[in-house]
Amino acid sequence: MTLQLPKGFYWGSATSAHQVEGGNVNDWSEWEKKNAERLAREAKEKWQPWQQERFPEMFKPENYISGRACDHYHSYEKDFDIAKSLGQNAHRFSIEWSRIEPEQGKFNEKEIEHYRKVILALKKRGIEPFVTLWHWTNPLWIRDISGWENKKTIEYFLRYAKSIVENYGDLVKFWTPLNEPSVYIGLSYIKGTQPPGIKNILRANRVFKNLICAYRGTYELIHKFKKDAQVGVSHYTTYRLPAQNFFWNHLLIIILNYLASGRFISRIKNSIDFLGVQYYRPEFIKLKFGGEWAWILEKPEMADRGSWANDLGWGINPEGLYFVLKKIKKYKKPIYITECGTVDAKDNHRARFIREHLIWLAKAMQEGADVRGFFYWSLLDNFEFVEVRGFWPRYGLVEVNYKSLERKIRPSAFEYKKIIEDSTIEV
Ligand code: GAL
Repeated sequence: MTLQLPKGFYWGSATSAHQVEGGNVNDWSEWEKKNAERLAREAKEKWQPWQQERFPEMFKPENYISGRACDHYHSYEKDFDIAKSLGQNAHRFSIEWSRIEPEQGKFNEKEIEHYRKVILALKKRGIEPFVTLWHWTNPLWIRDISGWENKKTIEYFLRYAKSIVENYGDLVKFWTPLNEPSVYIGLSYIKGTQPPGIKNILRANRVFKNLICAYRGTYELIHKFKKDAQVGVSHYTTYRLPAQNFFWNHLLIIILNYLASGRFISRIKNSIDFLGVQYYRPEFIKLKFGGEWAWILEKPEMADRGSWANDLGWGINPEGLYFVLKKIKKYKKPIYITECGTVDAKDNHRARFIREHLIWLAKAMQEGADVRGFFYWSLLDNFEFVEVRGFWPRYGLVEVNYKSLERKIRPSAFEYKKIIEDSTIEV
């Protein structure tokens, strides 16, 4: 069977400022320097022997310091040429708050001009910009007032957002003010594995409330400036399954779905024009007692179950995207897959990953999910800052040599290009 995707569908890839630009000075860059040695030491316990053998970079502190990253700050033109040559007509990226406002209230004109050039470079190539205002990083002065725990941060964020919208509002239609707030809260304030490294549910809840307020405020201000703007949240989704068929595992899944997703969306549902879905993998949930955090849940990987897996050992389940979309369609909003990707240094399974996720996406569309775009994560290999894993996990359609900064298009990127050109998927 052949599934046809509609004309005008947005086909693209995504990046975020801190992960690709290089040269950022923010709360993450400082935290990385302080924690790099420890992270390199801990790699031994964290990763499986086959991963340690294949990616020895994980034992070097440099792996954990974003530094000049892909130097995309200077080579965005070249990188957008590649995206264009790969048939992409949309690109999601983020603006780095710490560049725009490095000191409280002092807006940097040169950096404002820089992002104008970035947006124009995309438009010149016929690539629609999808702009994220906050992809987890904060200026140092925000960190110094306790970041998102402080209510004042909402006010400051709205002031920054206002300046962005005033500057680029006429050039940009699609906005995601915040990236994956629920993952940020979980990893930065509950699990504590990424900056600011806090483990406190009450503080996490404060951050949750403040991020919700900031999101709603940004939605209003963008619409005040531009009535026909499209504003949505880019939201982490997963397909949660019970590891064993016990009722407490099912119960835990209901609770987790509510905390990580339902609760958040219900608070912002009157302030979304579209839903940005970020889907990477299924999660098998089981209640386990003993050990830190493990008493709440454990996520045994699909890999252990004979399924295909990526370099992080994550199981891959394209069908999960279908279930996520079927569930999310109840909100009756347009949907963009704002991130979906895999870690595959040898490019062994990336083409299959893309094709099969698109098959399930097309199937969900046939059954009523209003999906309007797909952004592969990521255009480039980059600094994987989720739990500060660093440079070794390779997500890119384009391989980056971090020494020479040379780019090399991976074969899977051409497979993706073929799908884009045909806009059809063979099932
Ligand atoms: C997302 C995050 C991205 C990227 C991706 C890959 O949670 O938004 O920045 O790192 O995960 O793990």
